[in-house]
Amino acid sequence: MPKNQTRYVCQSCGSVFGKWMGQCSECGEWSSLQEETIAPSEPLGSKAKTAARHAKRPELQEQSLMQITDDQWGGRIATGFDESDRVFGGGIVPGSVCLLGGDPGIGKSTILLQMTAFMAQGHEVLYVSGEESAAQIKLRAERLDLGDASLSLAASRDILSVIARLEQQRADVVIIDSIQTMFVDYLEGAAGTVSQLRAVTNELIKAAKSLNIAIIIVGHVTKEGTIAGPRVIEHMVDVVLYFEGERGHPYRILRGIKNRFGATDEIGVFDMTSKGLAQVLNPSSLFLADHRDGLSGTSVFAAIEGTRPILVEIQALVVPSHLASPRRAVVGADHNRLAMVLAVLEARAGLRYSGLDVYLNIAGGIKILEPAGDLAMAVALISALRDTQTIGQLVVFGEIGLNGELRHVPQWQQRLREAEKLGFRHLWMPKPHHYDKDKNDIDAIKGKIKPSMLRDVGDLKRVMT
Ligand code: TYD
Ligand code: MG
Repeated sequence: MPKNQTRYVCQSCGSVFGKWMGQCSECGEWSSLQEETIAPSEPLGSKAKTAARHAKRPELQEQSLMQITDDQWGGRIATGFDESDRVFGGGIVPGSVCLLGGDPGIGKSTILLQMTAFMAQGHEVLYVSGEESAAQIKLRAERLDLGDASLSLAASRDILSVIARLEQQRADVVIIDSIQTMFVDYLEGAAGTVSQLRAVTNELIKAAKSLNIAIIIVGHVTKEGTIAGPRVIEHMVDVVLYFEGERGHPYRILRGIKNRFGATDEIGVFDMTSKGLAQVLNPSSLFLADHRDGLSGTSVFAAIEGTRPILVEIQALVVPSHLASPRRAVVGADHNRLAMVLAVLEARAGLRYSGLDVYLNIAGGIKILEPAGDLAMAVALISALRDTQTIGQLVVFGEIGLNGELRHVPQWQQRLREAEKLGFRHLWMPKPHHYDKDKNDIDAIKGKIKPSMLRDVGDLKRVMT
């Protein structure tokens, strides 16, 4: 009889080690290794292996692609919000498993309760909570005016009893809130450890696929502490969404990170109200709500999130520094991109930011990660440095190269149309590839908005006098 083996599993990244260490050598986390014992299975002898290989298997089921119709797989399930449907790729796919991650308190349970109340109108829905009692969920539902939704609630943490119920009486949609509170009783570790997260997820995936149930698993993102984050199950599930937002801002963004059934870079925008989450169908007007023309250090950037253009305000502030190495503080954008844009403005346009603290902020709590934001950053930074305002009603987009050249950005027509739609009059952008072919797009909006094609940051300096 082989004896039990001990292994050490990092609760942060899931790496497995033979011995304990103070710091995980894979992800660098401190004190994250936890001991686990595993009972090894008897190794198979070669005879047993041959027998296993020739054992009778169920017949492989095949279908031709053309024969598979919507009726067969049920079609996507609408969530009640266009904003979340789009992030799911056009609704939830039956039999799929989705992880919904986010900070505690950001609104995951709230949005799921709203979505399930809607889905329950045409589907069997089971909401399993390991965090709240059924009475507490009822209270929340009443606050959201959803008290009479035909939802089934279960307060349980034992995932195998949930699955046993589903095998007897299946549902179309199941919510598991949250993965960190669920356990399988055949493993020793406490709920929330890496091995429990993986085992619970495995059981749920098996049930989802065999019973054709759509399952949404809630996972709290924990920055520290011993509870493993949802990261370790991201690769197992079909869809990974994160619910994001800044405390103190009412906006919430549902962001697709991985989607086997749709595009991954979609976002849905919501507003947290006293009656739960309300979708924001026109996010540009939301993010620009407090924008005022005629201030120095601001610019409006036409961003693309997924398939959708969104206008956001970029703010910069430049003040004399008292520090040996001046401060470069960024909220909502990439620190390295700010450093690069500043370096290019110094080297290629002769502007001096040394000895100055630089602050950059994307208003409204949204994040700008695409390089197309470079030019708008540069405009805000130059305007802040000179303390002069830019021309009014201006929208900007473009990537900046290290030589100071402005580079083509994708989906420029959508950015331009969004700017025009919101009544902006001026546009600074790099010259697009295939400009001659697409010139009609620009001619179509002539008279309403005036585009200027810039070539490099030197041009920028010229138009910003
Ligand atoms: P919750 O959905 O419980 O967060 P999570 O499940 O991600 O931990 O959200 C809790 C927060 O949402 C709480 O701070 C109160 C706020 N909230 C509202 O602002 N309006 C509402 O209608 C509800 C139900 C909650
Ligand atoms: Mg919750």
